[in-house]
Amino acid sequence: MKTEVAPQCLPAKRRSLIEDDREGREPGSSVPEPADQSLDFTLDQEGGRDLVTFIFTLRNAKSSALSHAINIFETVEAQIHHMESRAVRKDKSRVDDLDFFIRCEVHSSGVNTLINSLKGMAEDVSISKEEKVPWFPRKIQDLDRCHHLITKFEPDLDQDHPGYQDLEYRERRSHIAGLALNYKQGEPLPRVDYTTEEIATWKKVYNKLSTLYPSHACRQFLDAFQILEKHCGYQADNIPQLQDISSFLKERTGFLLHPIAGLLSPRDFLASLAFRVFQCTQYIRHSSSPMHSPEPDCCHELLGHIPMLADKQFAQFSQELGLASLGASDEDIEKLSTLYWFTIEFGLCKQNGHLKAYGAGLLSSYGELMYSLSGEPQYKAFDPEVTAIQTYQDQTFQPIYFVSESFEDAKSKLRVYASKIRKGFSLHYDPLTCSVEILDKPHKVKKALTQMQDELKNLCFALDQLS
Ligand SMILES: [Fe+2]
Repeated sequence: MKTEVAPQCLPAKRRSLIEDDREGREPGSSVPEPADQSLDFTLDQEGGRDLVTFIFTLRNAKSSALSHAINIFETVEAQIHHMESRAVRKDKSRVDDLDFFIRCEVHSSGVNTLINSLKGMAEDVSISKEEKVPWFPRKIQDLDRCHHLITKFEPDLDQDHPGYQDLEYRERRSHIAGLALNYKQGEPLPRVDYTTEEIATWKKVYNKLSTLYPSHACRQFLDAFQILEKHCGYQADNIPQLQDISSFLKERTGFLLHPIAGLLSPRDFLASLAFRVFQCTQYIRHSSSPMHSPEPDCCHELLGHIPMLADKQFAQFSQELGLASLGASDEDIEKLSTLYWFTIEFGLCKQNGHLKAYGAGLLSSYGELMYSLSGEPQYKAFDPEVTAIQTYQDQTFQPIYFVSESFEDAKSKLRVYASKIRKGFSLHYDPLTCSVEILDKPHKVKKALTQMQDELKNLCFALDQLS
């Protein structure tokens, strides 16, 4: 038994998507890691480069020894980020000698050469390697670089995909995916003229799920779904267009849609949430299997995800999950993906004393939506520390679901969890420029605080006027 849809960003159990993602980014990969020359922060821009700090003492540093030492760094093409010197502290009589501190970026293969050469000419050489921060988008336009796909569930590769034997379907899916590959952030979203067969598939899914929503979906989903039916072409006989939905979401919560050609890597998918961008597939599942798709498709995205993204609290929760992922280690991305899985994909919440579904994996899956509220599975209170390390699987219905008291409560808990993720820096999202700033200097924190103070003053003034 399989779940009826493979949710976007799923961390598959057969092999971790983090591993797939990491493999795809390794040196020699066909997908080059982008460089960002504007950063004064150490990011993992190229595979195989280490950030190393050397402390050593040079004899006769004031004559020729320093130039010899610098030559060693040049030989291995080390990029010096910072260099300082001072008088030797341990012996004040050594007036011609100096202690040095050099922080540099060097190719991994050159580190040992550098160490051995320095040890040959300097005294008291000590070395420390720093952890690199993985590259992450700093502004919304950078999301064009967040396109690393996990391809193993695609019909061209997955023999279990219902469309694997259907060449015509694969070509059609590939054509629609191609529209996403050519898309650049900010352009109008591509419109797809869906075929009669595709609309018939949509209709089956739409009609079947619609019967369950009133009793199983949370209030926020139902409210938004009603509006989507009224204004965005959500009908059984019509597959809504991404552009119309994106405009609708922009007005409601500031979220935008970005077309994507398939299942995105967890790191890239979470990163886009940080900018209130939802990366969304546009092709539809195979007609022979309207209730099942091994990969995300428009039925899953439009029916499962979109209505929830129209809710302000949920949108904020999604963005905070995304912000927590920026620059996080692979290990933390794995945990954040698991949090994503048990909330945005398979989350339940309490409303008026009843359990309701808000996860897209449930709201786009008739069978699992029924099962999740049947009382049969195990239910646990949402606690990010526990949820982030809960094992899960994607081949059957979930044996366990996490229940949030409310989105506000889930957001507060997530914020506490995110504050404990060790990155060595803090971020500030600026909604005016849709960009994030690394708060690594006091004046940057001060600037962000001033903006907030101005906003607070406005709100206090408004309150005074009202009272
Ligand atoms: Fe999803």
